[in-house]
Amino acid sequence: MDHNKQQETVHQPVKRKEMTRRQFLSYTLGGAGAFMAGGAILPMIRFAVDPLLQPKQAGSFVKVIEESKVTNEPQQVDFKVHQVDGWYESDPKLQAWISKDSAGKVFALSPVCKHLGCLIGWSGAEAPNLYHCPCHGARYDKNGKNLKVAPKPLDEYQVKVEGGWVYLGPLEPNQHVK
Ligand code: FES
Repeated sequence: MDHNKQQETVHQPVKRKEMTRRQFLSYTLGGAGAFMAGGAILPMIRFAVDPLLQPKQAGSFVKVIEESKVTNEPQQVDFKVHQVDGWYESDPKLQAWISKDSAGKVFALSPVCKHLGCLIGWSGAEAPNLYHCPCHGARYDKNGKNLKVAPKPLDEYQVKVEGGWVYLGPLEPNQHVK
């Protein structure tokens, strides 16, 4: 390489890729806009999914009747439970048939017929000392054992007796029918 050519190469300005003012402004404004939008949207997303992130409440018990009032004869009790389903809260009214079993232990049956879900009743002229369903004639004995029409025994509530009161918890399959 001759001397002149070498000098030309040495003095050639280095080409740098520079950002135009327009590019700089659009990057800066775009970044700031995204940051601000994130600040506004993230709390909304958090709010929307918050109930799903909460740990599920362990089956809670509801005080329903004094233990001294429970006899061998089933009696109907109505009570309310507080339910949280995602962001929807409600206090549905529930019902149970409470009595004492042959060992004197309090137990509570679900009133929902295992055939198609009508509400059962206890005893009367048409079904003495039995639970009966008005819809299609299902019958259950005092322990909730299915005798007719229904395919399964009545469910039971979990029961807790504390301080002279009976508390009912979630439903579970019947424990009294062998
Ligand atoms: S729903 Fe009870 S017998 Fe059909």
